[in-house]
Amino acid sequence: MLLMVGLNFYPTIYLHFQKEIQNVKKLYNVEWALVTGSSTGIGKEMAKILVAQGVNVVLLSSNEERLEQCKNDLLKINTDVEIKIVALDLTKAFDHVQKTVAEATKDLPISLVINNAGYALSGKFQELTSETLSSHINCNVSSHVAITHHFYKMWTEKKVKGYFVFTASIVGYLPFPNLNEAYSGAKGYLRMFSNTMSAKSKKDGISCLVMHPGPVHNSRFLNKSGHFNDETPAKFTFSQTADVVAKHTINAIGKFTSVESGWYATLVKLIKNISGLNFVSLALKLTPDIFTAPKAISKKNN
Ligand SMILES: NC(=O)c1ccc[n+]([C@@H]2O[C@H](COP(=O)([O-])OP(=O)(O)OC[C@H]3O[C@@H](n4cnc5c(N)ncnc54)[C@H](OP(=O)(O)O)[C@@H]3O)[C@@H](O)[C@H]2O)c1
Repeated sequence: MLLMVGLNFYPTIYLHFQKEIQNVKKLYNVEWALVTGSSTGIGKEMAKILVAQGVNVVLLSSNEERLEQCKNDLLKINTDVEIKIVALDLTKAFDHVQKTVAEATKDLPISLVINNAGYALSGKFQELTSETLSSHINCNVSSHVAITHHFYKMWTEKKVKGYFVFTASIVGYLPFPNLNEAYSGAKGYLRMFSNTMSAKSKKDGISCLVMHPGPVHNSRFLNKSGHFNDETPAKFTFSQTADVVAKHTINAIGKFTSVESGWYATLVKLIKNISGLNFVSLALKLTPDIFTAPKAISKKNN
């Protein structure tokens, strides 16, 4: 039992007490990085860290205006880096995403790819349209596979080292009330996709990391899910800020293959590992739905 708790908490303890941020440019020779979903939230915070270390960055998300704003913010941190923006809607089809990313990055020696873009989906599964579901799967799953496939192929052909990072979620471990099945399923896919790739890619000089954040309160993520409007920042007990998740993620590159950010997320994983999914599912049936009264929650925190 003690061993199980220790193994579950060891990466979190390491990341928690690691005050410095590891320099991926110096340690892993990262000259260029691609960060998807980098216009706001966790992705933007990761881009800030990379830029401060002198890494050139490709910022990718769907909204050009937000990307321009992000680029300007990053250039205030370091004017000596190159920043390229790619406005691409990742809800589009696999081939379109793969070709667009390949074309936009073809002359850049990218060796770190952070697959971070994603959005929450709420509501009853049976009431969602098929278009809503397929767009969601495209953005939260297919786009990551398409982008990873392109770079994996290129890196192995060129025999160069590369690093993949995926932003999953603790809902990829266990069901969470009223975050939709498709969202949890997408995060579970990323978790196993990265874990399996990690086990197989070492021999190709490719490293994979999957980060499972708990709730993050200063990103647009929960607002987009329909729980909050843009003026009401989502905030929950146990939530973290995006910069903390970003720091933990960057510090885990090359050191771990699967991590959580913070104690809450780690505890959730431990509970699931100890009790198993049957118990968790039963407990969740008896748990009040914390998302059913978003106004009350947001008022409390404003
Ligand atoms: N916030 C949380 O509580 C939490 C918890 C666990 C995991 N996560 C995961 O963390 C990742 C980052 O989320 P965040 O919390 O930082 O939220 P966020 O501020 O909403 O960031 C999401 C990023 O993804 C981009 N994106 C969304 N839809 C897109 C699309 N169709 N095409 C291209 N880009 C798109 C957004 O840019 P545009 O909208 O400008 O395109 C934004 O840059 C997501 O994968 C999310 O699932 C979040």
